[in-house]
Formats: sequence, structure tokens, C-alpha cells
Amino acid sequence: MSIIVDVENVWKVYGKIEALKGVSLRVREGEIYGLVGPNGAGKTTLLRIIAGLVKPTSGSVRVGGVDPYRDFLEARSFISYLPEEAGTYDFLTGYEHLLLYAKLYGLGKSSIEYGAELSGLGERLWDFTRNYSKGMKRRLLLALVLMTKPRLALLDEPTAGLDVHASLSIRRAIRRHVEGTKSTVMVSSHNMLEIEYLCDRVGLISGGKILAEGSVEELLSRYNARNLEEVFEVATGGLE
Ligand SMILES: Nc1ncnc2c1ncn2[C@@H]1O[C@H](COP(=O)(O)OP(=O)(O)OP(=O)(O)O)[C@@H](O)[C@H]1O
Ligand SMILES: [Mg+2]
Repeated sequence: MSIIVDVENVWKVYGKIEALKGVSLRVREGEIYGLVGPNGAGKTTLLRIIAGLVKPTSGSVRVGGVDPYRDFLEARSFISYLPEEAGTYDFLTGYEHLLLYAKLYGLGKSSIEYGAELSGLGERLWDFTRNYSKGMKRRLLLALVLMTKPRLALLDEPTAGLDVHASLSIRRAIRRHVEGTKSTVMVSSHNMLEIEYLCDRVGLISGGKILAEGSVEELLSRYNARNLEEVFEVATGGLE
């Protein structure tokens, strides 16, 4: 399988803070790759670097063969990014959000229908988003990011703050999307169980470093663990 994201020894330093300390990872075309680690591990910084929004202090980043920071517009044509803190327009309906994105990206009716389906909002698409729950907003935002069928979607904590049911419906939507489009998704979370359920391959990140990488099965057998939490415990040398 070909490599779509190739990160090689990337450092990001903010003043005295070393947010990333020599991160290397590879994401294969067509997989769901999970970046999992605690608060402050460097997940958002890494996703922003891959999205071309932040310049690494050193190291090399290639996405679909291009440097996403230097060749931002080219990278932008096939990368979609869902920021952790994304919001909606209070006084537009969910459906109007879909129309807005369709206009912005020159998409037709079938994409709007695809977005509507991904949103799972049904009749609620005709409500102002100010009346949506957190889970509904997040689901709409996910639909907006995926409706363009980007070659690579970067989803920063798509289920943060959501209940079990809403998280599950988001995971299902992501899985269905990847299977239907053969596209690639990179997703971050601090929820190990969720990443275990959703992802083909996983990078465990902590303190700006990738501690372990592989498929969930590989990691469980390599660390003789029952779940990713145990892998994480062993990889960090016990609880921090
Ligand atoms: N613009 C910035 N300026 C200064 N420090 C920053 C900046 N962005 C991130 N950092 C620091 O880099 C480190 C990694 O932050 P980052 O947001 O990437 O972590 P994260 O894994 O996404 O955490 P969370 O799970 O809380 O979202 C933290 O110590 C953070 O304070
Ligand atoms: Mg973050």
C-alpha cells in the first residue's frame, strides 16, 4: 500500500516548550490512522503540521508527495482538516451549512445528499445550529469535512465531549466513509478504547514523541497487553 503521510524526525519548539521531539510516522493510503495520547502530548500540533498550517521547526513532512506548508494550496486541494475547536454558524441551519460548503467547493447535489446522510441529522437539518446539541454540531462538522471526499481527512478529536452513543455514531460514519471512498483518515483522541475500535493502525504519542506504532493487534501482542491502555502503560514505563 502506498504511503500518503510521511513524517520524518519532526520537531516543533515554541519558545521553551518542545511540543514535538523527533516524531516520525507513516500513514498508508486507505487506512484509518489513530493518534492517541494524553492532553498536551502534541496531537494537535502534529495534525496542524500535516495540514500545512504550522511550520515544523525541523524535520521533513510529505503529504501525497508535497510539502504541505510550502505547497499549501496544492496540499489544501486534497486535505480536509477538522479542528478541535471548530464551530458552526448559530443562525444558519444544518442544511444551509451543507449548501455553503457545496458552493465553496463547487460540489453538486449528490455531494449535498452525501453530506446530509453523513450528518445523520435527518429532519433536524432544517433547524438553526444554535439549537443543536454538542453531538449534533460535531456530526454536522464531520459531514462538512468529509462531504468533499478528500483524499486525506485530518480529524482532531472528533468525539471530544460526546456521550457513548454520539461517539459511536461518529465512528460508524467515519468507517462507512472510508470504506465507501477508499480515502484516508487520521484521527486523534485521548480515548484509547475508541481508537482501538476505530483504527487500522495507531501511533501512541506522549510528551511529543511517538512511543509505539503499529496495528492494534501488533501492539497488543508486542506488549503482551489486553488493550491499548495497557500498551500505553508499558510503553510509558508505568503510570506517569
Ligand atoms: N501555539 C502554541 N504556543 C505555545 N505552545 C504551544 C502552542 N501550541 C501547542 N503548544 C504546546 O505544545 C504542547 C502540545 O500541545 P498540543 O495542543 O499539540 O497537544 P494535544 O495532544 O493536542 O493536547 P490535547 O489533548 O489537550 O488537545 C503543549 O505543551 C502545548 O502547551
Ligand atoms: Mg489537541
